[in-house]
Amino acid sequence: TRPLKVALLGCGVVGSEVARIMTTDAADLAARIGAPVELAGIAVRRQGRVRPGVPEHLLTTDAEALVTRGDIDVVIEVVGGIEPSKNLILAAFAQGASVVSANKALLAQDGTELHAAAAAAGVDLYYEAAVAGAIPLLRPLRESLAGDRVNRVLGIVNGTTNFILDKMDTSGAGYSEALEEATALGYAEADPTADVEGFDAAAKAAILAGIAFHTEVTAADVYREGITEVTAADIASAKEMGCVVKLLAICERAADGESVTARVHPAMIPLSHPLASVREAYNAVFVEAEAAGRLMFYGPGAGGAPTASAVLGDLVAVCRNKLAGATGPGDSVYTQLPAKPMDEVVTRY
Ligand code: HSE
Repeated sequence: TRPLKVALLGCGVVGSEVARIMTTDAADLAARIGAPVELAGIAVRRQGRVRPGVPEHLLTTDAEALVTRGDIDVVIEVVGGIEPSKNLILAAFAQGASVVSANKALLAQDGTELHAAAAAAGVDLYYEAAVAGAIPLLRPLRESLAGDRVNRVLGIVNGTTNFILDKMDTSGAGYSEALEEATALGYAEADPTADVEGFDAAAKAAILAGIAFHTEVTAADVYREGITEVTAADIASAKEMGCVVKLLAICERAADGESVTARVHPAMIPLSHPLASVREAYNAVFVEAEAAGRLMFYGPGAGGAPTASAVLGDLVAVCRNKLAGATGPGDSVYTQLPAKPMDEVVTRY
């Protein structure tokens, strides 16, 4: 069988792990896919950085030339941000390549357009790594629960803020002190705005709500409130009431049954709830479905190797689909439940 050729866009924390594992575990991946996968090129912003385990000769700064060279079967996009990622993904589809992405911001903004483009090209768009890192979540929601009716999804989907709130809870530290520690440990970005203001969680909430409820939800539909106003006193009084404070992404069918709501804000969780035990930078997503009942998905939500695990799982899936001449279940069937403008949301969990 001819090898499937893969273009990797981005070689940062996640991309370098993907490249490393694709190289060291090539035989295992080939066995599981049924054909060898060959890393054909790695697009980076600049050459010259030392990237342990990454084949130097594959690096290029011309992402577009790599995607459009004509023989690429799968493009892995781990660059992040809207552009140039979006145009590169559209170029990949136009070439007949399937795409694996970890780009939550892009999927939460332009998911519908990208799915339509993938469907028109007859290729796959998979993005398990975009929500909650290593935790298998999007495919279980889309596939395993496809015969059920999901009523609610409650998620701790941002590791940085969970670390900060947990630190405040366990040590009595104030917000700034806890944020400093999160930054020192490498959880928070140098600019932690997307984490602490809830933008990162809101993008993930939009993706989860869209898949769980078979509708279109964008990040702009999600009510959003971060953790910057949470004080040590708030945490202490929650504790007195037998609760912990968590930044929750809450997606649910609205009371009218006709629409869905998605929101991100700090919430008090009773210690008896499984989400209360999610500490440090871990993520967890609690799903309530009609027939299945209550499910919890738990694990590392960020970091190079955990996120690479999700990316490589998607790579295996889209390669198998390619060999079978098929595509996986997409999100193209937006059949019901339009998202409700979120300023109408008044309830709190
Ligand atoms: N900044 C994100 C987090 C990374 O803290 O969870 C994973 O998306």
